[in-house]
Amino acid sequence: MFLVIILFVTATFVTCEEETMKNLTTVTWAHAVNNKTYLEAALASEVAMLEADIVLGHLTGHDGPPIPIMAHPPATTSDLSLAEFLSTVAQYNNVNNKQKGVKLDFKSIEVFSKSQELIAPYSKPQVTFPLWLNADILPGPVKATTTPVDPIKFIELGANHPRAVLCMGWTTRYGGNITEGEYTPEQIGSMLRLVNEQKINQTITFPVRAGLACNSQPVLLDLLRETASLNSSMTVWSSEGDSVEVGRLKALILTVGLERTYLDVPHDLAAKLNLPSTDKVKH
Ligand SMILES: *[C@@H]1O[C@H](CO)[C@@H](O)[C@H](O)[C@H]1NC(C)=O
Ligand SMILES: *[C@@H]1O[C@H](CO)[C@@H](O)[C@H](O)[C@H]1NC(C)=O
Ligand SMILES: *[C@@H]1O[C@H](CO)[C@@H](O)[C@H](O)[C@H]1NC(C)=O
Ligand SMILES: *[C@@H]1O[C@H](CO)[C@@H](O)[C@H](O)[C@H]1NC(C)=O
Ligand SMILES: *[C@@H]1O[C@H](CO)[C@@H](O)[C@H](O)[C@H]1NC(C)=O
Repeated sequence: MFLVIILFVTATFVTCEEETMKNLTTVTWAHAVNNKTYLEAALASEVAMLEADIVLGHLTGHDGPPIPIMAHPPATTSDLSLAEFLSTVAQYNNVNNKQKGVKLDFKSIEVFSKSQELIAPYSKPQVTFPLWLNADILPGPVKATTTPVDPIKFIELGANHPRAVLCMGWTTRYGGNITEGEYTPEQIGSMLRLVNEQKINQTITFPVRAGLACNSQPVLLDLLRETASLNSSMTVWSSEGDSVEVGRLKALILTVGLERTYLDVPHDLAAKLNLPSTDKVKH
């Protein structure tokens, strides 16, 4: 009887120790790292993760068949190709102790498909820098009209890179005069069905827009619970000027847990959250 109690207390203590060591909200981000100048600056900075956008297009001044380049729609030219982006980051990581990770935001299934061989050398198990493959694969709030990236093909191609984290989200229409909305049970359910039906067997993070996520706590908790075996997490992002209920967002983050929440929001919103420095507040 006593032995059982002692074992229980020890186990609880160890779990807490491990959890406080993992505070994913401390991970820092650079955005739209889509040209050479900014890539150099981001590599020289303290930032941990480089987020970049990939489209089919041309290097400035070149023609020929379109290739995967670093650019955000509607742009279709860049001075930086995906091939050079990846090799530059890999070279940096080879000679630096603190590795930088990449989050590659693919804007179409065509460009993801044409990027497979470029990604492959960096998704081998011996390469260790964080590699996230991101796409908006389902239509989301508020009645978003952007066409999502083909979900089944994205997941199938993503499975060729088992060490990569799949970052799978919803298109959104929010900001400006749209200041209210939420992820619906149907939208969350569609994602969960995809995860199950496609038998995903790699780490997943779900990118959710702060202003919408804060109104969707119950369904997001369901989604994360149902995908816990894939070490799932949420990545809270926000656009400059989005309307966000800060109190509700903070409650969501603390309920999900700092060990399961990446936070990629503008500085002023992060400051307003004023996250606690000990994990005691956790539910
Ligand atoms: C390079 O990228 C940064 C970040 O997206 C942007 O602010 C800057 O204007 C870009 N520079 C050029 C020359 O496109
Ligand atoms: C929101 O703004 C757009 C133009 O920016 C306008 O067409 C639309 O009617 C507005 N919607 C509402 C609900 O005010
Ligand atoms: C999941 O992936 C791991 C390694 O990536 C593998 O060992 C395991 O067999 C896979 N499980 C299933 C059910 O495919
Ligand atoms: C989840 O994490 C455990 C422990 O680190 C690991 O063994 C397992 O392979 C991971 N599974 C996925 C799908 O990430
Ligand atoms: C987690 O990280 C955030 C952001 O750096 C910080 O404000 C907070 O105090 C940290 N909390 C814990 C429990 O480590």
